[in-house]
Amino acid sequence: MTDRPHYGTTAKLLHWVIVALLAVQYPIGWLMPDIHRGQAPGAAMTFHISFGIIILVLILVRFIWRLTHPVAPESTLPAWQRLSSEAVHWMLYVLVLATTVSGWLFASFRGWTVSFLYMMPLPMLASDNAAAGKAIDGLHQAAEWSLLVLICLHVATALVHLLIYRDRIMQRMLPG
Ligand code: HEM
Ligand code: HEM
Repeated sequence: MTDRPHYGTTAKLLHWVIVALLAVQYPIGWLMPDIHRGQAPGAAMTFHISFGIIILVLILVRFIWRLTHPVAPESTLPAWQRLSSEAVHWMLYVLVLATTVSGWLFASFRGWTVSFLYMMPLPMLASDNAAAGKAIDGLHQAAEWSLLVLICLHVATALVHLLIYRDRIMQRMLPG
């Protein structure tokens, strides 16, 4: 398959919808109240889990789209920038996947019954298991923080290209 020179509308749309959902997901995660043993998850947790599942589905779609619609790196970039951006993009996919799956496992090990956006019951991946829940909670937090650090690096790099190098990297992901 020949690599395309530009990202298409679908790739751009998926990129920015995932960015928007993550921008909502982090504040909900930090602001939602703790849920103690025996308590049922409230609205904030229901939305956090539902948005998380949407992010999981979209990142899988985005990844399949990337595999089936490869885009060539910008030809003017030096080799080290091409390699490092490729590595960061791969890690972003891996960390979004790790964050969403660890969150889903954590909710499952708590033995909760959760709805997807109050529309239908959400299937759980495992049954109640307090010890496993504790271990996975640490993983969800490690994944979510590592993802945030990498996102900051990714955004900072995009800004360096836009404001300092003044090349066309940022334009690659913008509409048009
Ligand atoms: C990329 C998507 C996600 C992000 C960025 C994210 C982020 C967060 C954040 C920031 C917190 C607060 C924890 C802290 O204080 O550090 C949190 C907690 C939590 N998240 Fe997520 N989350 C995501 C996906 C999910 C998914 C898909 C689920 C479940 C299906 C989930 C379930 C939970 C649960 C149960 C907690 C509470 C943990 C606790 O009580 O300690 N998350 N998440
Ligand atoms: C304001 C925030 C963001 C900006 C300005 C931005 C900008 C960009 C730009 C300009 C590219 C194209 C780079 C190139 O082709 O060399 C890109 C690609 C990419 N971005 Fe972002 N991004 C942002 C947030 C995010 C977030 C939150 C994620 C988290 C999942 C993300 C994941 C990716 C991935 C995976 C690619 C590679 C696409 C591919 O080739 O499959 N971006 N981004």
